[in-house]
Amino acid sequence: MNDKQRVAHFAAQRIKNGMTVGLGTGSTANYFIEALATRVVTEGLQVKAVSSSVVSSLKAQQYGLPLLGIEHISVLDVYVDGADEVSPDLSLLKGRGADLVREKLLAKAGTEFWVLIDQSKRVQHIGQNFPIPLEVIPFAWQMVQREVSQLGGQGRLRPSGNGDGLAVTSHGSLVLDVIFPPELDTRTLNDKLNSISGIVEHGIFFGLTTTLFTGHDGRIIEQNP
Ligand code: A5P
Repeated sequence: MNDKQRVAHFAAQRIKNGMTVGLGTGSTANYFIEALATRVVTEGLQVKAVSSSVVSSLKAQQYGLPLLGIEHISVLDVYVDGADEVSPDLSLLKGRGADLVREKLLAKAGTEFWVLIDQSKRVQHIGQNFPIPLEVIPFAWQMVQREVSQLGGQGRLRPSGNGDGLAVTSHGSLVLDVIFPPELDTRTLNDKLNSISGIVEHGIFFGLTTTLFTGHDGRIIEQNP
């Protein structure tokens, strides 16, 4: 078992009977879905699950986990997801995949938001290893690019996987990947990005984590903000 599998398994053991659980997206979330589904089958654990992406829905279906449509819920007991970066104040960078909107909606709908990572995701500041993804309305991308450049950001549209087009999210938006000056603190950047018209959602998850579980060298470290 690697650290991602271990942390996912640990979190799945924390789910209680009757909970409504949001399923994140990515390899760690996939391990969590599998571990949760195993409990449903072997222990008769009763949960309702809501998925953040088409890929996670397919994964849940594959393991026989019953799903509610996101439009049917307004609150979750817990949302469980991975992250691309986690800073010391437990801010996150997410969105290397293309399902930011649903991920952030579910993170906000969660009474709790559990973040599952291995040690490789720890950074000193958000944006250290990756640009910040901005999901933008296609016709507004140049206006958004101009606004972020006034904050010192340098952005480019994310290319599609095969490189001969542009990445399009599950909601039909484009993704502007932006590198910001490291001296812009996360809170300020989060506030500024929230206020720019044309940005549907962005990859900074500020003040949302309730518990961080880090798998490190076979151990689980649990932290609260
Ligand atoms: C999805 O958009 C991302 O935010 C993922 O949650 C993140 O990339 C974590 O992925 P892994 O669990 O595969 O490392």
